[in-house]
Amino acid sequence: MGAITIQELTKSYGETQVLKGIDLAINDGEFLILVGPSGCGKSTLMNCIAGLEDITSGELFIGDDNVTNVNPKDRDIAMVFQSYALYPTMTVERNIRFGLEMRKYPKAEIDSTVKDVAKLLQIEHLLDRKPSQLSGGQRQRVAMGRALARSPRVFLFDEPLSNLDAKLRVEMRTEIKKLHKRLGTTIVYVTHDQVEAMTLADRIAVMKDGVVQQFGTPYEIYNDPANRFVADFMGSPAMNFIECTVKDGNVIIESGGQHHEVKVPSTQALKSSGLDTVVLGLRPEMITEPKPHSDSGYISQMSLNVLVTEPTGPDTLAFGEWNGQEVQARLSPEVGVKAETEGKVEIQVDTGKAVLFDPKTGARI
Ligand SMILES: Nc1ncnc2c1ncn2[C@@H]1O[C@H](COP(=O)(O)OP(=O)(O)OP(=O)(O)O)[C@@H](O)[C@H]1O
Ligand SMILES: [Mg+2]
Repeated sequence: MGAITIQELTKSYGETQVLKGIDLAINDGEFLILVGPSGCGKSTLMNCIAGLEDITSGELFIGDDNVTNVNPKDRDIAMVFQSYALYPTMTVERNIRFGLEMRKYPKAEIDSTVKDVAKLLQIEHLLDRKPSQLSGGQRQRVAMGRALARSPRVFLFDEPLSNLDAKLRVEMRTEIKKLHKRLGTTIVYVTHDQVEAMTLADRIAVMKDGVVQQFGTPYEIYNDPANRFVADFMGSPAMNFIECTVKDGNVIIESGGQHHEVKVPSTQALKSSGLDTVVLGLRPEMITEPKPHSDSGYISQMSLNVLVTEPTGPDTLAFGEWNGQEVQARLSPEVGVKAETEGKVEIQVDTGKAVLFDPKTGARI
C-alpha cells in the first residue's frame, strides 16, 4: 500500500548537504503537509521520494517495497511539480489522457476520467487549448488534472495551488480535501500557505535547513511547538515572543505602566531551568478583551497602550508594548474601534496555553 518510510535520508549537491538525515514514517492514506522556509529542501525531498533525484544516503520504502534504487516510473507515484511541466505540443485533453494511454487504460475509462477531473478542476472549457494558451493558474490545474487522472499509490503535490487566485484556491483546497477523503490515497503536499497546511493535513512536517524540526498533527504543531522556530513559522498572525524576567516560577509583564506577576503552566520546568529571563510565547488570540466566565486560573487583567490597530473584519489586531517589546492582541471589532480612538484598552491575558523558550537557544522549556 501507500505508506512511505524515509530513513536517515541525506542528499548532497557536491559539497553542500541539502537534506541532513530525514526520518519520516507516513501512514498509508495519510495527508502529510511539508512546510518550511524557501530553500529548506522541500522540493528536493519530494524529488527524492519520486526518484527524480538520487539519494546520497539512507533508505526509502513505499509500503513494504524498498524503492531506494527503483526507477521513478516503477514507483507508482503521480506528481505535480512546483513548475508544472506540461507537454507543450499537446492539448490540455491530451496532456491529461497521455499517462493513461501509456498505461493502456481502456478508452471508455479514459474518456470518463478526463471528464471527471476536468469538471473537478473547472477546466472543461480549456480541453482543446495548448499550454501556451493558458494562464499560470490554468496550467497548474491541468498539471493537477494529469496527476489526479491516475490512481497511484502516492500523490506528491509541490505547491499545486500557488498560482491560483484567492477564491479558486480556497475552492480547490476543499475539493482536494474531499478527494482525499474519497480516494484515501497517501498525499505528500508542499505549501507556503498556513491555512492550507492547517486545514488539509493529518500531520505536518516543519523543515528548516534540511532538518525536520517537528512532525505532528496540526493541533500539536500549533499548540505544542517543539521550539521557537516552529512556533514562529506556524500561525498567522504570528505568535508573540516577549522576553520576561522570571520570579518564583512566574513571569513579569510590564504593560500600561504597571508590573504584573503572571502565572504560566510550566512553573516547575521554569524553576528547574535556573533561567532568570525567559521568552514567553503567546498567540494573539490569548490576549483579548475581558470575557465573562474566564476562570482557568491563568487569567490576568491588565491595560494595554495601543499604538495602532488593524481591523481584519471578524476581529481587530491591536499592537501594543509589553516589557518594551511589540505585542499583538486580538480584539472584537467593537473593542478595536475603542482601542484605536482611546489609545488604551483593558485586556485579559490567558497564559493557560503559553509556551516558554530559552532566550539563547530557542529550545522549549
Ligand atoms: N540541482 C541542484 N544543485 C545544487 N543545489 C541545488 C539543486 N537543487 C536545489 N539546490 C539547493 O538545495 C536547497 C533546497 O532546494 P529546494 O528546491 O529543495 O528548496 P524548497 O524548500 O523547495 O524551496 P522553495 O520553497 O523556494 O520551493 C536550496 O538551497 C537550493 O539552492
Ligand atoms: Mg520548492
